[in-house]
Amino acid sequence: MLDLTPDRSSLEPIEIASRDEITALQLQRLKWSLNHAYSNVPYYKASFDAAGAHPDDIKSLSDLAKFPFTVKQDLRDNYPFGMFAVPREQVARIHASSGTTGKPTVVGYTQKDVDTWATVVARSMRASGTKPGDMVHVAYGYGLFTGGLGAHYGAEKLGCTVVPVSGGMTARQITLINDFKPTTIMVTPSYALSLLDACREQGIDPRETSLQVGIFGAEPWTNAMREEIEQAFDMHAVDIYGLSEVMGPGVANECVETKDGPTIWEDHFYPEIINPETGEPVSDGEIGELVFTSLTKEAFPIIRYRTRDLSRLLPGTARSMRRMEKITGRSDDMIILRGVNVFPTQIEEQLMKVEALAPHFQIELTKGNRMDEMTVHVEAAGDLSDDAQVGAAHDLAKRIKDVVGVTAQINVRGAGEVARSEGKAVRVVDNRPKT
Ligand code: DLL
Repeated sequence: MLDLTPDRSSLEPIEIASRDEITALQLQRLKWSLNHAYSNVPYYKASFDAAGAHPDDIKSLSDLAKFPFTVKQDLRDNYPFGMFAVPREQVARIHASSGTTGKPTVVGYTQKDVDTWATVVARSMRASGTKPGDMVHVAYGYGLFTGGLGAHYGAEKLGCTVVPVSGGMTARQITLINDFKPTTIMVTPSYALSLLDACREQGIDPRETSLQVGIFGAEPWTNAMREEIEQAFDMHAVDIYGLSEVMGPGVANECVETKDGPTIWEDHFYPEIINPETGEPVSDGEIGELVFTSLTKEAFPIIRYRTRDLSRLLPGTARSMRRMEKITGRSDDMIILRGVNVFPTQIEEQLMKVEALAPHFQIELTKGNRMDEMTVHVEAAGDLSDDAQVGAAHDLAKRIKDVVGVTAQINVRGAGEVARSEGKAVRVVDNRPKT
């Protein structure tokens, strides 16, 4: 793979500023953001008052811990525009979550917010190894989801040629890659695997495509999956993190030269890790729930938002800003099977070790005679004899038992028989009777 490390002179000065400069900027911006939320959003005024916290009390960054958390339900309770801090006429853009589990959460951006967002995505892409003038194939979904448009504006801002393909029509995606020859692709890792299959089906060697870097996010994926994708496409695979409530893609992004977890763009998003049980902040290096406070957002300031994503904060390496460990899962996705906590990424990690199996998988939960059961649906990689299938299933079941600590049934299916993703993969299907 090519060395795509960006030239240091191409970075924004704040990316390589001293820690003191970064914290001074954060404190100044935090004061502004808390005041802005308090003065313009009745919800924040009420919640700060109830907690006895006032924006003027902020003397240091650690004082933020005196302020209450914001959770998804608070956004739902204020549906659709109750959390906006500017008159609706000043909102240049709306995005929203799909709302499959209730009312969608709606977020808004002023023109300045759209520009800040484009700046952090452009910064993320530069960190990934994309350069001005490169062609970028965007296969994140366009629409209310933040992935497509977020990537799009960032790519334009960096000075790239954008191909706004969105998700779906998988065969056509390959034709476009083959004909247009983009060097960067932005897509969910699970959809990248669907593209990989489509590539092979069209008789195109994925290692021979023009792609040099993939910027993958919107769902958890493991380092084992990174290796699989990098090998298959002969390209760098870097991690982009973000969430609509905080901005969209580009809250944090890995640096291609280190690939050691996303660097958080701390000049715009202030991170904390808390103990999800007690709500107490924990020290850097300790695992817990990631919480974000926006520092510069105008239309939709967000204070101490509990992401439900599990990670830990790590010191900066390629940049001065802190990193977050690659996310292993969300507390929502955690399966509790007979008392053992299991994340889909743990299954993914073991699956990647079994060569006879393809990297597509879905976990099904059912109620057995007395206890819950887990079946992992996987696919054979190529034609496998019955014996080889049994062997592969046995191998995976043993690895899951030994490393993850749970018993799983393995169902090896034929090529294309496990549901394919065109965006975020659905990793867990819960067929247990609702109680
Ligand atoms: O998924 C924003 C995004 C789009 C990020 C494209 C990256 C690329 P939401 O739909 O609001 O926003 O979902 C946010 O997705 O809380 C995480 O649980 C998960 N997620 C996002 N990026 C990653 C990642 C977009 N790199 C939720 N690794 C977040 C693991 C991720 N999980």
